[in-house]
Order: sequence, then structure tokens, then C-alpha cells
Amino acid sequence: MHINDKTAIKEYQASSDRYDTMKYRRCGKSGVLLPAISLGLWHNFGAVDSIHNAREILRCAFDLGITHFDLANNYGPSYGSAEENFGLLYKKDFRSYRDELFIATKAGYDMWPGPYGNWGSRKYLIASIDQSLQRMGLDYVDVFYHHRPDPETPIEETMIALSDIVRQGKALYVGISNYKPKETAEAASLLKEMKIPFILHQARYSIFDRWVEDSLLDTLEEHGAGCIAFSPLAQGMLTDKYLHGIPQNSRVAKDFTYLTKEQLEAKLEKIQKLSTIADQRGQKLSQMAIAWLLRQPQVSSVLIGASSPAQLRENVKALEKPLFSEEELELIDVLSK
Ligand SMILES: NC(=O)c1ccc[n+]([C@@H]2O[C@H](COP(=O)([O-])OP(=O)(O)OC[C@H]3O[C@@H](n4cnc5c(N)ncnc54)[C@H](OP(=O)(O)O)[C@@H]3O)[C@@H](O)[C@H]2O)c1
Repeated sequence: MHINDKTAIKEYQASSDRYDTMKYRRCGKSGVLLPAISLGLWHNFGAVDSIHNAREILRCAFDLGITHFDLANNYGPSYGSAEENFGLLYKKDFRSYRDELFIATKAGYDMWPGPYGNWGSRKYLIASIDQSLQRMGLDYVDVFYHHRPDPETPIEETMIALSDIVRQGKALYVGISNYKPKETAEAASLLKEMKIPFILHQARYSIFDRWVEDSLLDTLEEHGAGCIAFSPLAQGMLTDKYLHGIPQNSRVAKDFTYLTKEQLEAKLEKIQKLSTIADQRGQKLSQMAIAWLLRQPQVSSVLIGASSPAQLRENVKALEKPLFSEEELELIDVLSK
């Protein structure tokens, strides 16, 4: 359905109390503050999704003080369509709020055919940011990420491309994603030499996936950058959603996503036990999973996905109960392995 088909949708006026309850956290040693909870547009914003639902989610997010929206060139499906839909909604609802928003996009995965539409060459990154800006109708993004390390391209080439994108005014800050600690340190040193503000590393981090704790978080602290934790709810497994079966329309039930029934079944017992701990804390499992990540000072923001405004409203309540007892942490540790 086209966005103009529902003419009855009211013009958007952001809620006047939008900054009253959200917490803002510093991104490493930079000047940037991010909302403790940010919204990712990987799912639910593509050409296959309802743009009206997408619009409700974005409006709800901003009304809750979520100022950071995370995109990538290939989010959809189809590739590019999340940026296109975001662009449509930005134009309708958010253009006058541009200076209150922190918008990210990325390049690094398969995007267009041929040898120049993937990985980390200068050719790919510079073409991709131009395409992303056009799709979103923006003059610049706040942060541009290299989405994953490229084992074939010299890291200097990739970092110089990121630096040039900043110098051209197409991005204000630089981020990297899915880089291991050693690659991260190398990238950070190169960007520092070029005096380019490297502020964020986007890494998968949840109760079920703790690889960043080995040494990535320390490396980031050393280099003055923050970690933004993606898939903090393990794509929905760390919520009440699957406690009593697989609902229709859930990520597991859809066949074009990355969460399988097998992955869910392997974790179900642990999910049930974690849910009991959350219950005893007087919290939903989703809220506990988010609060648990925000204990880490190096985590600048927790980057959630949501398929409805109700999920967003539930998730931001994580901020109401941030503290954990030693006993709770130990129990969660056991269940996270
Ligand atoms: N850099 C990278 O390589 C990378 C990779 C992956 C993701 N990311 C970023 O991280 C963002 C978040 O990733 P993610 O979507 O996997 O995060 P997530 O927060 O772990 O999972 C989000 C999904 O969980 C379900 N959910 C959320 N809140 C819920 C609630 N209260 N109750 C029940 N179900 C709930 C929804 O799924 P249903 O659709 O089933 O309702 C929602 O779409 C992405 O949008 C993207 O921006 C980056």
C-alpha cells in the first residue's frame, strides 16, 4: 500500500514530553549522547512490510525519546527499501526534527551485482553512501559504518574511504561493525591518525551472545569509542513471545529471516528459566535483557528492533529497573552459557 492511500492519518506533532523519561548515554569519549535504547530498521521497514505500521513505530519511538535510528544499505527486503521507506516517512513526519535525530547507515554486505557492490573497497563505500543519502532524502547521516571487516581489502583503503566520506560532509562520525578486537584497534588507530571521529562499534551482544566481553569492550574503551549492542533480545527469543509456542507473524514464523525454529528450540528451556528470573524481579524478560546490557558502562546504547509500538513501549520500561543483585547476575551467567 502506498503511504498516501490513508489520507486520514493525522499530521505528526512529536510529543512534548519526549525527553522526560529516556536516559542518554555518552558515546565513548565523544561529544555524542545516544538514547539508552535505539531503534534498528533491519526488519519491519522493507517493501514487504506495512508502511503504516512502520510509521506508527517511528512516531512512537521518537515520542519515547528514541532519537537514534539505525539503517543499512541492504535493509529490506528488498535491498534499499528500508532506506526508501524511512526516506518517505522522514519527509512526511520528521524533516522538521532533523537536528534532534541521530541517523546511521552502513555498507559492507552484498548490495548490488558485480565486483563493486560488496565488502570494503573505496569504490563500494563511496558509491553506497551516495545511494543511501538519495534513498533517505538526507544531506548527511550522523554516523556511517563499515558493516563488516573485509579480509581482502587493505584496512587503510577502507578507513581512508570512511575518512573522505566525513570530509565530504556526507557523515558526521564513523563507526565499524562486526570487527574483532585486533581489527578494531587497527581501524581506530588509522582513524585517529587522520583525525576522524570514530565513535561507535556495532556488535551483537545479548545474554545469549557475550563474545564482546572477551576483550572488545576493553579495546573500545581504550580507543574512546562506545559499543552499540545489536540483537539485544536475540531477535525476540529474550522476550515472552515464544514462551507458549510460535506466534504467527513472529520472526521465527517468517521464512525470510535469520531466526530459525531450531535455534529457538535449542534455547527454549533457558528462555523459560530466564523469564522466571525476570518475573521475580517484577520485569518482563525483554526488559531484563535490555537492563542487563545497560549495566556495562562501555555500552552506549542498546539497539532493539520492534514490530509494533506496543513492543517499543514495553521495552523502554527496562529503564525503570536497572539494578541487579549478585545472585541474579550469577543465575543469568549460568543460563547464558
Ligand atoms: N551490524 C550488524 O551486523 C547488525 C546485525 C543485525 C542487526 N543489526 C541492527 O540491530 C537492530 C536490532 O536487531 P534485532 O532486530 O535483531 O534486535 P532484537 O531487539 O534482538 O529483536 C527484535 C525483534 O524481537 C521481537 N521483539 C522486540 N520486542 C519485543 C517484545 N517486547 N515482545 C515480544 N517480541 C519483541 C520483534 O520480533 P517479531 O517480529 O517477531 O515481533 C522484534 O522485531 C537491527 O534493526 C539493526 O539495526 C545490526
